Parts: sequence; structure tokens; C-alpha cells
Amino acid sequence: MNIKLSKVSKICGSIEVPADKSITHRAVILSSLADGVSAIKNYLPSEDCLRTIEICKQLGADIKIDGNNLYIKGYGLKLQKPNSVLYAGNSGTTARLISGILAGQHFKSEIAGDESLSKRDMKRIIEPLSQMGAVFESAKGFLPLSIEGKSPLKAIKYDSDKASAQVKSAVLFAGLYADGITEYREPIKSRDHSERALKSFGADIKIDGNCASINPIEKLNPQNIEICGDLSSAAFFIAASVLIENSELTIKNVGINPSRDGFLRILKTMGADIEFDNIRESSGEPVCDIKARHSKLHSANIDADIVPSMIDEIPIFALLCAKAEGISKISGAKELRAKESDRIKSIVGQFKKLGIEIEESEDGFEICGKPDGKFNSCEVESFFDHRIAMALSIAALAGADDMIIKDAHCVAISFPNFYGVLKEICL
Ligand code: S3P
Repeated sequence: MNIKLSKVSKICGSIEVPADKSITHRAVILSSLADGVSAIKNYLPSEDCLRTIEICKQLGADIKIDGNNLYIKGYGLKLQKPNSVLYAGNSGTTARLISGILAGQHFKSEIAGDESLSKRDMKRIIEPLSQMGAVFESAKGFLPLSIEGKSPLKAIKYDSDKASAQVKSAVLFAGLYADGITEYREPIKSRDHSERALKSFGADIKIDGNCASINPIEKLNPQNIEICGDLSSAAFFIAASVLIENSELTIKNVGINPSRDGFLRILKTMGADIEFDNIRESSGEPVCDIKARHSKLHSANIDADIVPSMIDEIPIFALLCAKAEGISKISGAKELRAKESDRIKSIVGQFKKLGIEIEESEDGFEICGKPDGKFNSCEVESFFDHRIAMALSIAALAGADDMIIKDAHCVAISFPNFYGVLKEICL
């Protein structure tokens, strides 16, 4: 589906964004491993999370969907051998986190994915999980792959060269099945939803700076979880409010986990008018209501230290840079090339069509911002990448006469009603 959008005069109102994608994956997986029934309130019914739900069902969990809620009956850490291939669709989080669990099972299983996911690197999880004793077969480290589990796995100390929550989670989940303490160290802290969730399900996990260590355990305890709104989805609406004149928007119940809030921190330094109200905790995660208003921005530089805490927000951050006074530089972001599309190439190529001055580098790009510049009327590619489609949609609302975003239905990967919510707040 292609979508045609153009400049709006302002956005205003109060909205909620859908539940956090990362937290939903973890809640579903750990509930499926627990002994008993967990209730998950406000889960994310997006395509990626539905893949995790289907796979957990194939592995033996009883999962009932009731409106926005999930009831999951798990039968313990030992899962049932699936009858068919486990299909992760477009979801890297599903494929990588589930691999960590499958590594510790008594059976052989197979995971596959769609065209985009089949081009994404799985060596990053194959390496540590093989060291722990699981046996993988794959074509050069890509999906489809088969995993011969081993129980117990060998506990390892893993010093990762990547700040990747997916790799960290796969190793920590496998650590539940190991014969001793599994230690995972990362160069910069990546999102810590797995550590928080494991703790609440009763796992024996300790955190010391950028190092997490986990002891094997007999059983996990079922939980009642309420999932907050996804900051990565809220980011598109925060950006729209900041960019479009006379706008003011409240986004309620958004997760602001400190390992995920780099986008908010950098936006503040650029001069954005954003307020955080009603800060509280919900199921072990910090949450608040965010108010964002139209603001004049100045440029910003980001590097490897902050990138992991805003990795999924970089496409929309790039758009803010295009409207900020001065030159902004994004470096240390090579991981963007390994996402649903090569996001450095996607951003640079499509932004050039809009008339934005942007130069690609190996690990990022440089943008010359024009606060009063309009964007060209044109047709842009989403590359079936949800976050590229949403960032380009906000670009259209902020400054184009007419823009056609191709294959915009891919927003359903993380935000099925994105265009419905936009319609509610645009004037
Ligand atoms: C995710 C981790 C990040 C992020 C992805 C979701 C997660 O990927 O980009 O959208 O839920 O663990 P990496 O761990 O590969 O950085």
C-alpha cells in the first residue's frame, strides 16, 4: 500500500501509543517458560510480536488473547518440540531471543524468516550460543537455521564487541539452562528489558555496570504485567509536535527506561520543548506522560556512546536534524546498516530526494539543517522498513506539498494504527 501525505497546519491533542515492542517480546517468552498462568495487560498486537506469540504456542505454551490482554500458561523451562519450522517473519528480536531458549532444549528445531530477516546477521548469536554447546546449521550465518539444543549448556563468560540487547538477551536466556554462572559483558549498555523481566520472573540475575550474570534456575514464576507505551513509537509524534508550528501534544503512559531514552536527552540539548509529567513505575519499568510543543532546534552531534540508547529513533532524529539550525553529525552508528533495511542508506537516499543536504559516511551521516526549508514533492521508498516509513510520513506532514510513501503498510511491524492515530491529531 502506498500512502499520500502533505503538510498540515498543526497537530494537537492527547494520545496513547501502542505497547512497547521489546517488552512485549520478553513478557511473552518468559511467561511461556514460567510454571503457571501469567496475565499481560496491554500487549502489542503488531506483526513482530504476533510472530513471537505463534512460536511460543508451537513450543507448547497455552496463549489466549482477550482484547488487549494475553493470558499465557507456561509449563516450565523445558519446551515441547515443535512440529514445523518456527517462522520469525520480519522480527530480529523474535529470531535471536528464541534462539537463546532453543539452545537449552533437548530437541532440534528450525527458525526461518522473511526476505529482509534472512539477510540479517545471525552469527552474532550463533557464536556465543555455540560456545555454550548448542549446534547450529545455517548458510553462512543467515536464516534459515537449525539449532540442536543441549542441556545443560556450558556457562560462559562472554565479552561482546557489540552493544546489542538481542545478543545479550539470547545469552542470558540460554544462561537459564547452563551449568553455572553465565556472564555477559557489553561495551556500552544496551536496553535492559530482559534483565528487568528476568528479575521479576524470579531468575537469579545480577547487574554490575555493563556486565550481567545469571545463574541457572529450576523454574520461573508467572507474573501479572502491564506494558507501557513504546518510546520508539512515541518518538515519531514527539518529533511531529516539535517540527510543526503551533503544535502541542500529550502522549500518555510512555516508557522512559534510561537505557532507551537517548532520543529524549539529545532532543532536550537541541532546544526542544518537552515535559515529563506523572513519572512513575509500571511493572518494573519507568513510565511518564510526555508533552511536546513546537520548538526551534539547533544541531547536535551523536556518537557511539549515545547511539545504543536511541538506535531505533535515529531515522526520526535525522529528520529533526534536517530542520535544526547548523550541521549535525551522526557517527558510531554502523549497526544501523544491520536493521530491517540498511538504515544509513535508506535515510541518506530518501532524504536527498526531499532536498535535504546529507552526506553518508561508513558509520553514520552529516546533515546540513534548514529550519525554514520545505521538502520536495516526491515519491519515496520505505524499503518495507517500518521506521523509515514512519519517519518519511512525519517529513511529509512537516513540510511537503505532496509526498507518496511506498509500501507504507509495513508500519504494522510495530505500529499497526499509525496512520489512524495521525489522522486524529492532524489539523
Ligand atoms: C531490540 C534491540 C535492538 C533494537 C531492536 C529491538 C530488542 O536491536 O534495534 O529494534 O528488543 O532487544 P539490537 O539488539 O540488534 O541492537
